[in-house]
Amino acid sequence: MRSVGLPGDKSISHRALILAAVTEGRARIRGVLSSADVASTAGVLSALGVALLPLDPAEMVVTGVGLRGLRASPTDLDCGNSGTSARLMAGLLAGAGLPARLIGDASLSARPMRRVAEPLRAMGADITPSASGGLPMTLGARRLHELVWRTEVPSAQVKSALLLAGLMAGVRVAVDEPIATRDHTERMLRAAGVDVHRDGTAIVLEPTDRIAIDALDVPGDCSSAAFLLGLALLGGSPPLALQDVGVNPGRIGAIEVLRRMGASIRFESERSFGEEPVATIVVEPSALRGITIGGAMIPALIDELPLLACVAARAEGETVVTGAGELRVKESDRIRAVVENLRAVGAEAEELPDGFVVRGSDRPLRGMVRTHGDHRIAMAFGVLGALKGNAITLDDPSCVAVSWPTFWDVLRDAT
Ligand code: S3P
Repeated sequence: MRSVGLPGDKSISHRALILAAVTEGRARIRGVLSSADVASTAGVLSALGVALLPLDPAEMVVTGVGLRGLRASPTDLDCGNSGTSARLMAGLLAGAGLPARLIGDASLSARPMRRVAEPLRAMGADITPSASGGLPMTLGARRLHELVWRTEVPSAQVKSALLLAGLMAGVRVAVDEPIATRDHTERMLRAAGVDVHRDGTAIVLEPTDRIAIDALDVPGDCSSAAFLLGLALLGGSPPLALQDVGVNPGRIGAIEVLRRMGASIRFESERSFGEEPVATIVVEPSALRGITIGGAMIPALIDELPLLACVAARAEGETVVTGAGELRVKESDRIRAVVENLRAVGAEAEELPDGFVVRGSDRPLRGMVRTHGDHRIAMAFGVLGALKGNAITLDDPSCVAVSWPTFWDVLRDAT
């Protein structure tokens, strides 16, 4: 069986760099993702006076400046294409009471920022998104006070921004999330000695003066793993063993769905990297059938929906996804991008306001895919294109650099 290592988890890499930046002293981050999105977070932190030293592509030594040591940047803070950078930085900066201006590329500038600005304002922050609710977003210097907030949209980015704001400002924050989202920030804060606990559906952070991180191992990214799972399940590769992949329950909704579709996927060598569970994921070609996906499970598979749509195009019967309106405000409108591109290559798909319907077939899929500069659209259709009999070209394969710069080499080697 072929073993494949995966790039470091994107969500965890952002958080590891941010928390290491405000620890006291040096922290070594092993397995950190080397990609454009994580480089955006590193770039912002370095503009705020933090020294980040790459030791090799997957290892970084960060010299933390403590919770009161960040300094204002005289230049704009460029978050590139990265929503996680923009939203988590908004919380970090507001909590630190630093004036700043966050900017990003055209896609990020159009993404919704009011969802993070509004609760930060309720904490006392002076924060203003652009007139259309996106970037540039400016922050003035203010001292924050404690917050109790119920999130409207389930969002780990917003929850994390508020926890970071509370951490930096030294105030208590309680974020009530009726639908649970990924909890990497909470786990990492706890590992750093912070009192973060649950109270019903609320996550509560208690104030602290300092945090402590000296070393951190980043698991492989299960969202990246999903593309290789799709490839192997659909018979585009021999069985694969994906090593040391993060299997946090808030992230493995796609694996649960694939299993319900008939996939043979098992976890071996289960252990943990700090507070994060990891496993070797073993996958074998499987006959898949369509499924209905919706409700509270959506946040645990939101990033995998483009891949699941492409897998559904090769499953027997119909797959229906609802409750995933958030897909419309990701790096592209992923509902539209998935459906238009499936149709462009000859598959049957329809848009729903908050999801899509895909009808599977085994007919050859051929044509040109428009990625809209969206890494997950590129990789999902890359998997379909790697299957025997299909011939799919992409307008912009290089956009995978956001989360997995070597994706095309790995895909070719796995096929
Ligand atoms: C992320 C949370 C999710 C996810 C994104 C990364 C994170 O976004 O889609 O790719 O690292 O917290 P939302 O929190 O906006 O749903």
